[in-house]
Amino acid sequence: MAELRELIRRHDHEYYDLDAPTIPDATYDALFAELRALEAEEPDLITPDSPTQRVGGGVSPLFAAVRHPTPMQSLDNVFDRDALTAWVQRIDTQIGTDPAFVCELKIDGLAISLQYENRRLVRAATRGDGRVGEDVTHNIATIDDIPGRLPPGAPDMLEVRGEVYLRDSVFDELNAARIEAGLVPFVNPRNTAAGGLRQKDPALTAQRRLSFWTYQVGQGTDGRNLGDGGVRRHSEVLETLAGYGFPVNPRIRTVEGRDAVVDYCVEALERRHDLDYEIDGVVVKVDDLSWRDELGSTSRAPRWAIAYKFPPEERTTHLIDIDVSVGRTGRVTPFAILEPVFVGGATVSRATLHNADQVAAKDVRPGDTVVVRRAGDVIPEVVGPVLDQRPENTPPWTFPARCPCPRHSVLQRPEGEADTRCVDPHCPFQQAGAIEHFTSRSGLDVEGLGPQRIAQLIDAGLLEDPAGIYTLDFDAVAELEGLREKSVQNLRAAIDASRDRPLEHLLVGLNIRHVGPAAAEALVARFSTMDRIMDASFAELAAIDGVGEVIASAVVDWFADPENVAIVERLRAAGLNFSAPVAEDEGLAKTLTGKAVVVSGTLEGFSRNEAVAAVKARGGTSPSSVSKSTFALVVGDSPGASKVDKAERHGVPIVDGDAFVRFLETGELPKADSAE
Ligand code: IVH
Repeated sequence: MAELRELIRRHDHEYYDLDAPTIPDATYDALFAELRALEAEEPDLITPDSPTQRVGGGVSPLFAAVRHPTPMQSLDNVFDRDALTAWVQRIDTQIGTDPAFVCELKIDGLAISLQYENRRLVRAATRGDGRVGEDVTHNIATIDDIPGRLPPGAPDMLEVRGEVYLRDSVFDELNAARIEAGLVPFVNPRNTAAGGLRQKDPALTAQRRLSFWTYQVGQGTDGRNLGDGGVRRHSEVLETLAGYGFPVNPRIRTVEGRDAVVDYCVEALERRHDLDYEIDGVVVKVDDLSWRDELGSTSRAPRWAIAYKFPPEERTTHLIDIDVSVGRTGRVTPFAILEPVFVGGATVSRATLHNADQVAAKDVRPGDTVVVRRAGDVIPEVVGPVLDQRPENTPPWTFPARCPCPRHSVLQRPEGEADTRCVDPHCPFQQAGAIEHFTSRSGLDVEGLGPQRIAQLIDAGLLEDPAGIYTLDFDAVAELEGLREKSVQNLRAAIDASRDRPLEHLLVGLNIRHVGPAAAEALVARFSTMDRIMDASFAELAAIDGVGEVIASAVVDWFADPENVAIVERLRAAGLNFSAPVAEDEGLAKTLTGKAVVVSGTLEGFSRNEAVAAVKARGGTSPSSVSKSTFALVVGDSPGASKVDKAERHGVPIVDGDAFVRFLETGELPKADSAE
């Protein structure tokens, strides 16, 4: 127990005081839970200064100390649905009736207390150890979200609490600027916000462009002094604070019953990445303020609220080794081989390390304990090493000088470029990559021709490039080890069937840089045949919505290479589909030709696929994300917040679900409301 306390204190110090944690939150929570469990077994051994009895964090000598009028507490956590329903159940039993709960997102920032006197902000303080915090008034004054004055009607004395945080979009911008300036990027939005708030110079705080959500009034009154004194519920407190000009998170809901609490948490977890800020759970609070006194609190946390913490997106694991893979373009990518770890809803045993610079910047070494992150659908990433767990004398990793393929060609890294490449045109790994891509699902979708079979055919000298699959010597294939007659027949049939795949799949399969399904679809929609795409000029290509200059020049370059043209001609000779089918839906007016229309949320009368099909049937494209070349964003019920944010930022018009049918018919944007 003493060891755990010591360890937790050190991690508290790194997190709260230094704004530089060295372990993921989930690892910290596990240490905390372990200490809790031991203390529950041996209550006599609980010390008053145990981290379970107090709130983490301290006061830096750089800032004046501020005593909080009422302590700023922490929250108790639950980590799964069962523990959450058990908590709700306990409250239900204690209160006797089905009480209402306020469900709030748990914002991953740092807690702040704002003291107003005579309706002016006079002091702002961090939480510190819960009783004494740091005076950060000047820094808080740089945050636009926080009102400096309150409107008439607000109480003379008021303490408002909430979370200072950094928007993901601002975090990305700050980091882009840091990378540009040759500085080490910030690790995550929470530490960047905490570090920003604890600057000596407010001008530096201002540069971080911090934001704020309010969620509480100082516990002395709990808000019962607000308005005309008639406030009885937490939900009313939040409404009143919103009326005073404080930002209150729009996703806060008042719900009744266990199921509704659970539903809120499930939805918040599913949609956490639709937001422009980080959340790490949901906070559930009893709505009726009078129950707060009744339920009371421990020294550390109130009993009338609970934090439901999301499953971790960051975990530590062992880095077994670093290896490199050679892609279809010759790019050599280092990747981590990890002891399998369950993180972000999946078991991760490999993670890309991107390029030589990234490995050097992170300085991860085989043998290290590393932090692995997998957020939503994003590919897993190695965040960095846990340095104090590095075995002694662990040497840094060096990038291989030669290709790992049997030819061992010397690798090259062109001056000023991040990527290392194998430039040997006969590199079997590159050939394999190109063929795998050609036969993959987004390409020609040849069943039974996966990575292993392709490697076998290349090794046997039967296959060199994608077009080669149509002239395979099947007698020789039949001789290969482990291939039964039936498999050979199936392979032959699958290859034959692939000749009829739509032109856009063929285009994707050709392995032209940047040409994925969306670009291929846009090219086919505009030109209809391979020959017209081959002959198209840079200007014609770049003018297509969803293509643009980068893709256009990649297409022109690719078709300018005689070796590529030779492959195309062999594919033509093999009878592949070189033109788009003539549209059957001639009856529909092509109101959206060449326009990119993104659909988000549930529309009345259309499934998502139907809505996308309806746009395409009118000549449009329907990419899955908003960019500045998007013609319009159609929003139904519960649209993705990041899409809406992005549309607003790029000035992309938003079409309401109700106006969708008319929009399809006319292709015209609804007129903006003159009101508002
Ligand atoms: S209420 C006594 N509501 O979570 C209860 N806290 O782990 C005071 N937090 O220190 C906190 N979002 O920094 C509350 N909607 C929310 C919150 C929230 C984030 C933070 C806060 C608190 C920590 C506890």
